[in-house]
Amino acid sequence: MYSVKVLDAGTPVRVSERLVTLEIDGVAVTVPAGTSVMRAATEAGVRVPKLCATDMLEAFGSCRLCLVEIEGRKGYPASCTTLVEPAMKVWTQTRKLADLRRGVMELYISDHPLDCLTCPANGNCELQEMAGVVGLRDVRYGYDGANHLHAEKDTSNPYFTFDPTKCIVCSRCVRACEEVQGTFALTVDSRGFASVIAAGPTDFLASECVSCGACVQACPTSTLMEKSIIDNGQPDHSEITTCAYCGVGCSFKAEMKGTQVVRMVPNKDGGANHGHSCVKGRFAWGYATHPDRIRTPMIRKRITDPWQEVSWDEAIAYAASEFKRIQAKYGRGAVGGITSSRCTNEETYLVQKLVRAAFGNNNVDTCARVCHSPTGYGLKTTLGESAGTQDFDSVEEADAVVVIGANPTDGHPVFASQMKRRLREGAKLIVVDPRTIDLVRMPHVEADYHLKLLPGTNVAVINALAHVIVTEGLHKEDFVRARCEPKEYEKWKAFICEARNSPEAMEPITGVPAADVRGAARLYAGARNGAIYYGLGVTEHSQGSTMVIGIANLAMVTGNLGRKGVGVNPLRGQNNVQGSCDMGSFPHELPGYRHVSDPAVRALFENDWKVKLDAEPGLRIPNMFDASLDGSFLGMYVQGEDLAQSDPDTQHVTAALRGLECLVVQDIFLNETAKFAHVFLPGSSFLEKDGTFTNAERRISRVRKVMPPLAGMADWEVTVALSNAMGYPMHYDHPSQIMDEIARLTPTFHGVTFEKIDRLGSIQWPCNDKAPEGTPVMHVEEFVRGKGRFVMTEYVPTEERSTREFPLLLTTGRILSQYNVGAQTRRTANLLWHDEDRLEIHPHDAEQRGINDGDWVGVRSRAGETVLRAVITERIQAGVVYTTFHHPFSGANVVTTDNSDWATNCPEYKVTAVQVSRVAQPSEWQRQFTEFDKRQRELLPAHEQAKA
Ligand code: SF4
Ligand code: SF4
Ligand code: SF4
Ligand code: FES
Repeated sequence: MYSVKVLDAGTPVRVSERLVTLEIDGVAVTVPAGTSVMRAATEAGVRVPKLCATDMLEAFGSCRLCLVEIEGRKGYPASCTTLVEPAMKVWTQTRKLADLRRGVMELYISDHPLDCLTCPANGNCELQEMAGVVGLRDVRYGYDGANHLHAEKDTSNPYFTFDPTKCIVCSRCVRACEEVQGTFALTVDSRGFASVIAAGPTDFLASECVSCGACVQACPTSTLMEKSIIDNGQPDHSEITTCAYCGVGCSFKAEMKGTQVVRMVPNKDGGANHGHSCVKGRFAWGYATHPDRIRTPMIRKRITDPWQEVSWDEAIAYAASEFKRIQAKYGRGAVGGITSSRCTNEETYLVQKLVRAAFGNNNVDTCARVCHSPTGYGLKTTLGESAGTQDFDSVEEADAVVVIGANPTDGHPVFASQMKRRLREGAKLIVVDPRTIDLVRMPHVEADYHLKLLPGTNVAVINALAHVIVTEGLHKEDFVRARCEPKEYEKWKAFICEARNSPEAMEPITGVPAADVRGAARLYAGARNGAIYYGLGVTEHSQGSTMVIGIANLAMVTGNLGRKGVGVNPLRGQNNVQGSCDMGSFPHELPGYRHVSDPAVRALFENDWKVKLDAEPGLRIPNMFDASLDGSFLGMYVQGEDLAQSDPDTQHVTAALRGLECLVVQDIFLNETAKFAHVFLPGSSFLEKDGTFTNAERRISRVRKVMPPLAGMADWEVTVALSNAMGYPMHYDHPSQIMDEIARLTPTFHGVTFEKIDRLGSIQWPCNDKAPEGTPVMHVEEFVRGKGRFVMTEYVPTEERSTREFPLLLTTGRILSQYNVGAQTRRTANLLWHDEDRLEIHPHDAEQRGINDGDWVGVRSRAGETVLRAVITERIQAGVVYTTFHHPFSGANVVTTDNSDWATNCPEYKVTAVQVSRVAQPSEWQRQFTEFDKRQRELLPAHEQAKA
């Protein structure tokens, strides 16, 4: 029978150069100093009974079940809180200990419902197991004394219940919430017999709880229990896979009953998450089998025609014939493809190969265009590699943490928990953000500096920070001399020292007090290890690439690169955005970031792929839209990406999509883009596929199929079929063969195989002969490009400024419970926390406009207008408004403009000049959207409409 249990050593692992040898039940064991006797016993193969201890948490010593005898010591110390000592002799199984343990268990069981057979935890309950282990046969106190058996169950959380009748008050949940998650939502109320676990004033839903599941995971009884287990029973098998939401890339055990997932359990051995999770990966997986999933391919001639369900063969043949027709009529460059950062590396690789080899052009781009393309450009230019420099664990050695334009507690929650732990240990924190994000002030964490800049002034702030560091002599001249190009450095140094880059000169532009910039600069430069983490608040600007370069300059000049605890760390948005870039999704780069114009690189791929490749970079996404509107680009294959919702200036995007003669969309749902499509190819969710994802720390992890593709074909098989139908044959029997090809053709992946990933758990690229097991920290001896390159970062104000007509600046971001365009999370109970996007506005701006909390407000820019409900809050500064973009009806991107990064065309989502006013009805765009959406649903086959 499947066992859900994993070995729990009782207390966390300790690392020490000093080793201690002791004897446990006559067995000699050697462990690092600082290890508990309980953990040492586990390593000696001895299981000591326990209830309040678990190896995810520090020992607490409350249950008294783990008592042991130690020769030469009085009494019976708890093995979980007693540390090993040299030559210690420990006995874990004596008659006296057995009596004591039985006595402890008797007390617990006398206040516990005796309903094991019908309890959802039956077979997976530590209390039940311990009763068996200690040989409990009788409860001398009877069951009639004072007890908690009538306490009320809390079912308010959509994903788990809290049944206090089962609680043994071991406080594992409280400690998990504090130590692992860092939210401090739970407390032990009262004392002694009256002790109860409390979540906020009323229930879990009303508390500070963020539904990460850490307490549920820690609970040794069924007190905290997943509703999916209560409904379906305990699993019968499991498979290790990787979360398909954000760029943290958490590893999970998908626990199954047949082909049905009943629980996702964070994997303790996961390199990125070490057994932790957030609400999305842990609980919000129900979308995978949501009735909205389209399971049959569909085609239509015009987007005003009803969809016709067809066989896979027909759909593929139709798509290929349309692409061929378009190319014959308008030229080879009239078609292209979009890869997805939600799909696997193998799927992404195949789509770009299809475009380059079967379409015969380089018109391939990816959603990273609209998020982290400046990271690629900026880091490649300065350091030589388009990726973050560290692993997540590196933060545990950081002494000063700088978070710029990122909101980790919402966007990258599991990494945020790791970062918060380090901050609670005393690391300093600098937040650079126009908004007061949670990290600025939360339980036991407070930023030392919050540089609350005006949107669009990032480069001015980074220059001012560098100015202070260099002019005050806080920089590491030795590091720079040894590791960086001297000439470029001197040029940059002269530039950065100019008075116009000083915090005082920049203050009127950035809105940040000069003294704060000076203080933050000194803090970062003076730290033993300073680490920078940044997000889309850095990249999604007209100077996104400049800012990434500015960050790299700052890290180089302070010597904060090439070891643990430091670095430049882009927090990637989607699960595989790093991978989609690595796999050659950009129109100018083949896999491994090698330019298509390089004849040697092309020759390598041409020999392998047996096809001639185009030497000209292809079209970027915005160029594809423009070309569609001018009639030269008419066919598009979009895998797993929702351009119509996620790209800026929606009306421009939808006009371009309407201009296409053949739009092929491969997705799990009829997303906004699919409403403009002529061919719909049903995609498969992460639970239905084999492959790999690469997270923000370059960690390649396996995605494993736990159920067959609902529509019958895996995504990679669909691309292969389309390529074959286009006349360019592809032959693979399994995604592992695609990875073998990637490894063969990409130097940083030379050593990667599925077999090695399976063996090691995960691998951080570069993985090759030089680093056969991967590279957690990059640029250790030298930068990938050899010498690091300083580049001048002149601050150029964005053209998007507040004016009399548009006096406020709109900036956008994410929320914990929703993910990206919401296609997945909107189809889960996460809607409970965020069922609409709202506009945050400062009380001063609201008052000026007569806006009350909850009012409908029109948000108008030069691109368009939408209507949202207002939230009045001081989280956002006066002059700035903020919204999320998870719901299509919100139309956040109707308002955003076509401004973009000078180097990469990454849209300037983070700065849009707007006017906000009270309104009584939806915008014209929203009315049209609703009408179009309704019409498109009516064009679905009858059974799909019925499901809706
Ligand atoms: S809810 Fe579970 S983990 Fe928390 S105190 Fe009760 S039994 Fe222990
Ligand atoms: S689910 Fe997470 S945040 Fe909520 S109480 Fe449990 S540990 Fe704390
Ligand atoms: S932090 Fe990201 S990868 Fe981890 S469970 Fe949450 S959404 Fe998934
Ligand atoms: S497990 Fe040691 S006191 Fe509870």
